[in-house]
Amino acid sequence: MYQYDVIVVGGGLAGLMTALGIAGRRRVALLSKVHPLRSHSLAAQGGINAALGNTPDGANDSWEKHAFDTIKGGDYLADQDAVETLCRRAPETVYELEHWGAPFSRTPDGRIAQRPFGGAGHPRTCYAADRTGHVLLHTLYERAQRQGLIVHSEWLVTSLAIKEGAVQGVIALPYETGAVSVFAAPIVVFATGGYGRVYRNSTNALINTGDGIALAYQSGIPIKDLEFVQFHPTTLFGSNILITEGARGEGGRLINRHGERFMRRYAEKLMELAPRDIVARGMATEISEGHGHDGAYLHLDLRHLGAARIKQRLPAIREIAMDFAGVDPVKDLVPVQPGQHYSMGGIDTNSCGETAVRGFYAAGECACVSVHGANRLGGNSLLETLVFGKVVAERLAETAIDRFPEPDASFLDSALQREKTRLQNLLERSGKILFAVIRDELRNVMTEKAGIYRDESGLKAALDAVRALKRKYENVGIRNKSSFFNFELINVIELQGMLDLSEIIVAGALNRQESRGSHFRTDYPKRDDAKWLKHTLARHTPEGPRLDFKEVTITRHAPQERTY
Ligand code: FUM
Repeated sequence: MYQYDVIVVGGGLAGLMTALGIAGRRRVALLSKVHPLRSHSLAAQGGINAALGNTPDGANDSWEKHAFDTIKGGDYLADQDAVETLCRRAPETVYELEHWGAPFSRTPDGRIAQRPFGGAGHPRTCYAADRTGHVLLHTLYERAQRQGLIVHSEWLVTSLAIKEGAVQGVIALPYETGAVSVFAAPIVVFATGGYGRVYRNSTNALINTGDGIALAYQSGIPIKDLEFVQFHPTTLFGSNILITEGARGEGGRLINRHGERFMRRYAEKLMELAPRDIVARGMATEISEGHGHDGAYLHLDLRHLGAARIKQRLPAIREIAMDFAGVDPVKDLVPVQPGQHYSMGGIDTNSCGETAVRGFYAAGECACVSVHGANRLGGNSLLETLVFGKVVAERLAETAIDRFPEPDASFLDSALQREKTRLQNLLERSGKILFAVIRDELRNVMTEKAGIYRDESGLKAALDAVRALKRKYENVGIRNKSSFFNFELINVIELQGMLDLSEIIVAGALNRQESRGSHFRTDYPKRDDAKWLKHTLARHTPEGPRLDFKEVTITRHAPQERTY
């Protein structure tokens, strides 16, 4: 048994920021299903928002304007006290990362460069070319190395130990040996990322299977607003690799097969720089109405930016387009289509990252604080990971450790024996159905019936299909019986959570009879504040999620019509 004061699960930006914030004050260890430098934070491209006012167009920017844009962008579903924390603390957070060595791109006079992003009134997205997540993750990981942070890489947490409403630790499976172990701690922080891979077309890494959210749900913790799924407008056709919004921030244009800059019909003023939900819907409409190519994609035109600017500001995008689509954005159009990108919902937390279980916290994409409401603005995700990773660390540092019940060794030992039996039974299954068959069917159903546009009949069909897949899962077989690096077993474990999360997404989407942000019901195309200005909470029952509601915190901004 491993013993710590604090276990942080997840090695991306939120997990590292939390762990760094308490290292030295508490015995802390970080567990991650991959090496931290393979975490999905690495894939973030375009930047991180903070009202620094470093460009002539942004000189009058303020955290208050950032907060307003975020609240409006989220279609008024965000909790405004949490948004205030996010935006107020953004500048100090970006400067802290700069001081820790993050190599941001620069203005001619040496300040942190900022570019326009969707739904933002000023250029406030700080960036490092188009590799911002990459440089931030390396900056934090180097710092963690210098501080001697204990990292257990390639361990999958398979169960959360909770006794009488208080967390006791986690049980985890190491890929290398398969020897399941207990990590005892009175405090556990999940920073486990999103579930993008329940969709077929996603910018997310293959590891993004929503394990942390699913485990919290299966442990009885409420999950909030999971029906709000973000589709990024520009993913590379064929592979769905992210083509950063920064490309449109730099001036990129979206055009249909008639060569028309169609976004003027969907967002007259902001056009390509409207929030993502609006641009993705515009693109989906163009494609479904026959204005796309092969009924599947449109074009992003960067050619007018010129070779020098593309090579300086968007070097990775150029490489991706050349390597994966065989086109050079300097002279060719880039084929793009919307794809799943982000989860606005997640584990229900308050604005300090606390959940319904004592000692159990969540931060980053797996958490729903909620700062993004019904639609996240680009550049606010990296910011959330860092700000709320830090908020959780501060909360933990200020709370005496003896306020949390000491983990109970015999309780944990029984939990370990039960988990060993469960996983052994799973391993021994000889069913004929392969996990990949169920997983691929799930991805198809979610993409076709719970995507950008939704309606009652599609969602009902999706719910039936997901439930049928859950029954099918009972007969999933595992051919590889080895204990060592058994990725078939790991996939099977992940799939159970993916099925649960899909069921919550679909049930929430079916229940919410309005359109708000990323959730667009063709049968209820208007936002309905009278009935639906509320968060959805999903609680686990053996029959499926039980839905409930929670108030939205409104501080300064009463809901208004959302036009761009
Ligand atoms: O388009 C992008 O670079 C993605 C940014 C984000 O999701 O915040």
